[in-house]
This record gives sequence, structure tokens and C-alpha cells, in this order.
Amino acid sequence: MEYAARGGETVLNRPMRLALVFVAALTLNACSREAAPGGTASAEGDGTAHPEIWPEYKYPVPVDPAVEAKIADLLKTMTLEEKIGQLVQADLCCVTPDDVRKYNLGSILVGGNSGPNGNDLSPAPDWLKAADGFYLASVDKSDGGVGIPVIWGTDAVHGHSNIIGATIFPHNIGLGAAHDPALIERIGAATAKEIRVTGQEWTFAPTVTVPQDYRWGRAYEGYSSDPKLVASYVGAMVRGLQGTPDETNLLAHDKVIASTKHFLADGGTKGGVDQGDAQISEEDLRDIHGLPYGPAIQNGVATVMVSFSSWQGKKLTGNKSLITGVLKDRMGFGGFVVSDWNAHGQVEGCTNNSCPQGLLAGLDMYMAPDSWKGVYEDLLKRAKAGEIPMERIDDAVARILRVKFRLGLFEAGKPSDRPLAGDWKVLGSPEHREISREAVRKSLVLLKNQGVLPLKAGARLLVAGDGADDIARASGGWTISWQGTGLTNAMFPGGTSLWAGLKQAAEAGGGSAVLSPDGSFTQKPDAAVVVFGEKPYAEFQGDRATLALDADLTGPYATMKKLKAQGIPVVAVMITGRPLYVNPALNAADAFVVAWLPGTEGGKGLADVLIGDAAGKPRFQFTGLLPAAWPKTPDMADGALYPFGYGLTYATPRAAWKALAEIDESSAGDARVYFTKGVPASSWSLVLGNIDRGEEKRITTVPADAIGGRAHITATDAAVQEGARRIVVSDGGAALAVSSHDPLNLSRETNGDVMVLFTVKVSKAPAKAALALRCDGSGCGSREPVTLPVTNSFVRYGLQLKCFAGKGADMSKVTAPFILETTGPADYALAEVRLGTDAEKVLPCN
Ligand code: BGC
Ligand code: BGC
Repeated sequence: MEYAARGGETVLNRPMRLALVFVAALTLNACSREAAPGGTASAEGDGTAHPEIWPEYKYPVPVDPAVEAKIADLLKTMTLEEKIGQLVQADLCCVTPDDVRKYNLGSILVGGNSGPNGNDLSPAPDWLKAADGFYLASVDKSDGGVGIPVIWGTDAVHGHSNIIGATIFPHNIGLGAAHDPALIERIGAATAKEIRVTGQEWTFAPTVTVPQDYRWGRAYEGYSSDPKLVASYVGAMVRGLQGTPDETNLLAHDKVIASTKHFLADGGTKGGVDQGDAQISEEDLRDIHGLPYGPAIQNGVATVMVSFSSWQGKKLTGNKSLITGVLKDRMGFGGFVVSDWNAHGQVEGCTNNSCPQGLLAGLDMYMAPDSWKGVYEDLLKRAKAGEIPMERIDDAVARILRVKFRLGLFEAGKPSDRPLAGDWKVLGSPEHREISREAVRKSLVLLKNQGVLPLKAGARLLVAGDGADDIARASGGWTISWQGTGLTNAMFPGGTSLWAGLKQAAEAGGGSAVLSPDGSFTQKPDAAVVVFGEKPYAEFQGDRATLALDADLTGPYATMKKLKAQGIPVVAVMITGRPLYVNPALNAADAFVVAWLPGTEGGKGLADVLIGDAAGKPRFQFTGLLPAAWPKTPDMADGALYPFGYGLTYATPRAAWKALAEIDESSAGDARVYFTKGVPASSWSLVLGNIDRGEEKRITTVPADAIGGRAHITATDAAVQEGARRIVVSDGGAALAVSSHDPLNLSRETNGDVMVLFTVKVSKAPAKAALALRCDGSGCGSREPVTLPVTNSFVRYGLQLKCFAGKGADMSKVTAPFILETTGPADYALAEVRLGTDAEKVLPCN
């Protein structure tokens, strides 16, 4: 029990913590074990589960004979086309009400980047209007159909988080720190109400993942690394969203249906790779990742979303032993199973447009955002050919109808006629914001306090750091946009940035506050709060190679040191989706608070706890406890600095601070950057050769000549001195590549909107140019002709990875994600090559 010893006093002071630490020790043991005692458990199976070793539960939603009779009647009346339509869900990007009418689609969704009228940022009333439009089309029987009402799914994962003006609650990792299931239920109930205002019926939440590796870009979507803590929340969240299990006719009230995701072991993949492979034993699969599904089922969760990821090398979306054998038959799940965003296309032998394997494995509804028509036609064709048993189709349709009946969808009328619809004052209401503010207070974790906190009411404060006045930054991914990027404070009406919350509280207490991102001041403050940390990301875009804070975000460390050197007490406040190695900040600051991703009420909740009363007493206590262990090093090599369940309070006796070891972080890079500031990232090379790959030369030092003297390479300035490589080709064909010996699997990036981004300045445009991608094997690359005009400054171009895949490249073993091929004389400079979505100019894919 190395953990109990560390920070031991504070832990032992509190029985609650002791209990949690004990659980942590168990969990950590569980995760690190390769095989269960007795040697029966092995991580080396073929992805076939043994349902008999899984627990049995009772799905509590009462079977209503009247409803069952209606379902049976409908199944008799529906055509095969109508049945197949129910099994398909399309994204708003790519479907119209007319499509819903014609194909009888069972559901629509709004993905992270979609919105009504093609606009992610559409105002709330447009969502309700769109909901009416799709609903009315779905029930239109003028074409002679049965007219089954459609349901609309949305990622309301921390409040109704796609909508401008909604209350944004802390992301789940922060809620995990609050260890308060009753609070979780109130958050669920508030979220359900806000969803009802804009007319949707279904949220793809709660995420009940149990992350075991915080390099994973989705770790913040999970409450905790501890399965028991996660499980203790799930029932509460499901009840908050859906009501109690015996409740039906939910749309007559103020509820929506929930979806626990992502089944199963999305947080257990090797290396924390998003959409990766959980190479774990079936016992770990059950005891760590399966645990939260118990309370979900026992509380009647209506839907379960299957994970993109694999278990023992086999994609979950096609895994019959887990979906049908374990989830439905053994655990007794009585709702319907939905897949994830084109995840069926990743199943062995499938494509986005064809995957009967999903339905055969037990999937009931395909999330086929842009591929719905292909999936529909393919399923129909195969059903007609007898390749899919009719019983399976009827079972899937019946499960979907059962949920629709439970909602009361058939009697609910159009979305705008239902309770709460269009009641705009409920969206972001003061009551809901108050719950969020309470959640922020309870989620804050205090890691260090050398007597600076609470800040005195009446004090003169300086608020510094690059993240202080940025609500989007404090909200993280899955906020209004998919990645949570491209947003300004104006897009959070009613929200309060950390800076604004501190300022309001300081002034209310008779003090003052100034905002100064770089920490400079004219009048010496009594104390400084320096806000720093991660920037928003979602899914695989947040995957990292290590647990280091991205190097470009560590600037505020210097600000902390500078302020402290001037004799000013410093409070560091970290915005983050995960525990990270931040020893320099822990050393530099006098107090250190982890704020996680607190959302729109972050500023108010933070100020409640940080700023005391006039007598210098706290107004609110710190009660938050780490929902996952905090790393000592970026590679976690030396175990945890602070264990799961750790957190100081205002009552913790102060101990002398022992300086933490600081390591050289310059080696810990961002896995998605291949070439930066004119040099290749570690394990990458810059190579110049003929287009046919002859005469390739690795450019290690400059100046250099290549391809028989036809090309000359020098260093040139970009954002920083010598921040680019200039390539002058006198004539003929040339190919500049950024390549690696270790093939890179870019399949999951390709599945999204990720681009290869390259920053160039062209001084002489080549007669012809193309962007190519190379992979390991013969003939598995592809190329896209591009036009790169002369510009007088650097431009960050982007080409979607999908473009290469569409032209036949094998994205699972890429050796050169960037090759610029030119013909004729050319002169250009290359500063950076990386993956991302923030292109200044998107190149067309022809
Ligand atoms: C994510 C899901 C999400 C879905 C719809 C997927 O890419 O993995 O969590 O619910 O998109 O936006
Ligand atoms: C969508 C997300 C989805 C993701 C999957 C994005 O374009 O907006 O909802 O999760 O793609 O790759």
C-alpha cells in the first residue's frame, strides 16, 4: 500500500478517504494484473465471451400487455421497408425530413459538428423547429405508411451541451471528484428538462466508461478510473434523465431517454488509444468495465451504445457473444442497442455502407450518419435474400418500438406541443445554473495549500494565465462544437468565465481584481490566481503519447515563478480533462487547485471556495477527491504522486512542501506532430527524392543538396528563427516526404474529419503538385493533385485523411502521411506537418 503512505495524514484523518483509497488499491491491482488468481483469466482470447460468468440482472421496466399487443399489430402491418427504416439512424448533416418520410427512418441524430440548417451554432428555437419538421415527416401517412414517430438523439453529455445558452455542467471527471450520487441525479433531471425545451427525446449519455489510461482523449468523459465509483453514479444519472424505472409516458413529464456508452471497455484499450483494442481478460472486462452496466440495467436504461473499440482484437460492434450473449440474454437488458458513428464500417468484413454483421450480432439501430442510405439498401437487399432472419429484424424493431412506447411518443404530438418545449427560460435557468455551480464547488480538488487559501475578502487580486477568461476552455470538448473549439465567450450567454467569477466575488467582498494574462501589473496585488491547463479536444484528437501537458501550454509556469519572485502568493488553478504531470506548477505555486472542466458556472463555483469571508474564514469547503491517480512523471513510470481519493481540505494541517522532481519535458512530444519548427519530430525524418522514390536522401543537416544536385535545402525563418526548411528545385520531379519506419495506424483519425495539415510558403509555384500518402506495402498509398499558389506568408493547408482513404490508401499502416510531389522548378518553405482540423485553407478532394 504505497498509496496510503503517501499523503498519509490527510487520508487517515478521514474515514471516507480511507475507504476510497482502499478501493483504489484494489482497482490498481485489478488493472495491473495479467491473469486472475488461479491462472484462468487470459487476455489472449479471440474476443468470444462466456455469458455464464457474467452477473444476471432484472430489467425493471414493466412489460405492458397492451403495449406488447400494439407492437405485435404494428409488426404485422409494417412492410419490410418500414421495418428496415426503423433500424437506421441518420445525422442531421445528411438527411432531410423528406428522407425520413420516404425511408421511415427510426431516428436522427445530431453529431458534434452538426446542427439545424447546416449550422452547428443554430439558435435554440431553430432546434425545436427542426424537431417539429422531422417529427411531422415521420408520422405523415399520406404515402400509405404506418407513420412511426422518429426520435432525435443528441450528445447532451454535460448539460444540453450542443445548445447555445444551455447550462454547461462540469464534465464527468469533475463530477467523479464530487463523490455525490444525489447531485448526479439532479444534474440528470436538469439536463433532461433543457433537452425537452428544444424538442429532442434522447441523449447519448451517461458515458459509463472506466478509463484505465489517461492518455486517452476521452478520459474526461468518464467519472473515474474506479469501477465502483462509476457504478455508484450510473443509476442516479439514468433516473435523473429517464425517471424511475416504472415510469412510462416520459414525454408527458419532463424526461428523456438515456444511453449508457460505450459498451464495452472503451476505456480499457491498450495505450489509451481511442477506438483501440482492450487486450484484457474476460474477468477484467466484466469486473472493471462491465460493472457500471449493472446499475444501468437495474434502473431501466433505454439504450446502450456499442463502442468503436475492440476486445481481444475483435470489434465490439460485431461481437455477438457480448451484445446478444452477455448484454441482452445474460444481463437482461430490455432496451435497444445502437452503434456508434459509422463504427459498423470498422467491423471485420464491413464497410460504412454494408454491415449485416452488426444486426446479426445483436445491434438494433445503426448510427449511419452519412451512410444511412447505403446501410438501408444493403439491409433491405439482404433481408429479401434471406441472409438476415426475419425474427432478428422483428426483434430489433420491437425493441425500438418498445422504447418509443415507453416514451409515450405515439401520443406526445409534435415536439413543440409537449411540456417544456419552447420554454426558453428553462434553458440555462438560474435553478440549473445553481446546481452546476454546486457541482463545480464539489469537484474542485486541492492538491497544495501553503496557507494562501482561502483568499481574503477585500484582497486585491491579480488573475493571470492564458485560460482565465475563456468559457470554452473551461468547458472542454463536446461543448457546442464537437471539439469545443472555435468558440468565444459571447457564445455562452449567462455563463461566467473563471476570471469573471473571481472578479465578481472579489468585488462583492469589498476587494478588487484585475485580469492580466501575462501577470504584469502596475499596482502590486495581495495575491495572484494563475489559470492554466489543457485546451479543448474530443475523441482521438485528445489522445496523447504521455501524461505531459502539451509543451505550448506550459507558458504560465514562468508567470507563476515571476509573481512568486516578486513576493506575491500564487494560487494555480488548472483546467484539465485529466491528471497530468505538472510538477513545475505544483512547485512554483503556493496553492494548487484542480478545476477539471467546470463549464459555464466555473467562475462562480471556483470563487465560492477560493475567496473567504471578511473574517478570513472559508465560505465553502474543499470536498473534492481525485477520481483517478495523479502522475509523478509523464510516463507514470514511478507510480502516482497522489493516489485516487486524495484531496486536501481547509482543515488539513499544513506540512512543509517537499520540492517535486522536475524532468526535462522537451523530449515528451505531441504524437500528432510529425514536423515542427523546421525539424522532424523524434522517430520522423525529412526525406527528399525523385517522385518515383529513387535517389531518396534524408535531410539531417542544412544546407544540403539532393536528387543529383537538382534540389537545394536550407534553413529559413518562419514563426521562429530558422523555423522552416526551404526547398529550391531547379527542374524535374521531386518529392518531399515526412516519413517514419514505424507504420502508423490512422484508421480512427480517417473516420473523423481529421486532416493532414502542412504549413508552407510558396515562392515559386511548381508546374504541377500533388499531395501523397505512403504506407507499408506495395501500391497501398494514394495521391491527390493540389494547387499551391505563391503567397507572401506561411499558410496552413489541410487535406482530409478521408481523401487518401477514398482513393485506396490503407490507413492502418501509414509510413509517410505527407509527401509533396512537384514537377518543374519550384521554391517553397515547409514549417510544420501535423494532424488536426484547424486548417487555414482546406484543399479540395477531387
Ligand atoms: C462518439 C459518441 C457520440 C456519437 C454521436 C461518436 O463519434 O463516439 O460518443 O455519441 O459520435 O455524436
Ligand atoms: C461528428 C461527431 C462524431 C465524429 C466521429 C464528427 O464529425 O460531429 O459527432 O463523433 O465525427 O468521428
